[in-house]
Amino acid sequence: EKGGYDHFMLKEIYEQPKAYRDTMRGRVSEDGKSVTLSELSMTPEQIRAFRRVHIVACGTAMHAGMVGKTIIEQLARLPVETDVASEYRYRSPIITPDTLVIVVSQSGETADTLAALREAKRCGARVLAITNVVGSSVAREADDTIVTLAGPEIAVASTKAYTSQLIAFYLFGLYLAQTLGTRDEAFVANMLAAMQALPEQVERILAQAETIKEIADAIAHNRSLFFIGRGVDYAVALEGSLKLKEISYIHSEAYAAGELKHGTLALIEEGVPVIALLTQEELFEKTISNIKETKARGANVLGIYNEGQEAEVAKSVDSQFAIPRTLPLLTPALSVVPLQLLSYYASLALGHDVDKPRNLAKSVTVE
Ligand code: M6R
Repeated sequence: EKGGYDHFMLKEIYEQPKAYRDTMRGRVSEDGKSVTLSELSMTPEQIRAFRRVHIVACGTAMHAGMVGKTIIEQLARLPVETDVASEYRYRSPIITPDTLVIVVSQSGETADTLAALREAKRCGARVLAITNVVGSSVAREADDTIVTLAGPEIAVASTKAYTSQLIAFYLFGLYLAQTLGTRDEAFVANMLAAMQALPEQVERILAQAETIKEIADAIAHNRSLFFIGRGVDYAVALEGSLKLKEISYIHSEAYAAGELKHGTLALIEEGVPVIALLTQEELFEKTISNIKETKARGANVLGIYNEGQEAEVAKSVDSQFAIPRTLPLLTPALSVVPLQLLSYYASLALGHDVDKPRNLAKSVTVE
């Protein structure tokens, strides 16, 4: 049932190229120039009436939602707020009939997410669900559903569901853009072409799993480590940190790279591992400065960056891992993969139960 892999998590990490292809299949027009989401019942008029978007989810699905915020803001120029589902209802969110509420849930059964969905509907908002389970509670109660086609996810630590949620956000963001006219046909075609290249690029990362394993073996005995990044790299840092905590039980924190010096830098001392994401060209130099701040205090830095920048990165880090080149908005679909492998191998090195970490359940059906 694990298809020759030692754990479901590893199997599911390796299923990601297929999950990307399956989630895109039939949703890109034959000429590659537009997105077709025939499952959506929302009309172009309804889309034009949206004034804001709320994205609500828990855990890893929330981290996908944080990337989703950037995707929708950049592509459709609609203001997006994100909230963890367990907080959303209790802060009297301003939900109006011109709000689109997107709930993201692999299982479609998470109690907090379902409760947030119901609150959104009660307030008259339109609800779009991004879920991996057809017929789940979330899918049944939402007005519209985009199903991610990741296939069943068994490991408690979510991997292919997260990346498929990213693909769903890219598709939906482009769909909004082409409906609202915020991006032209050439832009959409270019981004779709870059998306089609992602599965093969993930395969290239997976082929280097051994490199990540060596890094994981080296960090597994540290008590604490840090993930830093800016923009979408920060959202991916949060996901990398959660994954590591969840299955290896190593304490870690994710920080927006520029925030470190406002307090957390005090925790950096000799030998503390810092995993720095540097995939956003515009923010590269700024993040390098933040890396130097940690290096000056003895941090042991792993840089994750776009291939071609080896020389610039080498000067400031102790070890490095390059991801294949893609558009800046698409890097999360690649950069998270080495972080998934890192947490997998760290958990393995420490002898933990990778697929069934302590204290956690696959589906959280209590609030
Ligand atoms: O099924 P859901 O996507 O609603 O689950 C949400 C979270 O419970 C889930 O993503 C959790 O954070 C994972 N175990 C993370 O790997």
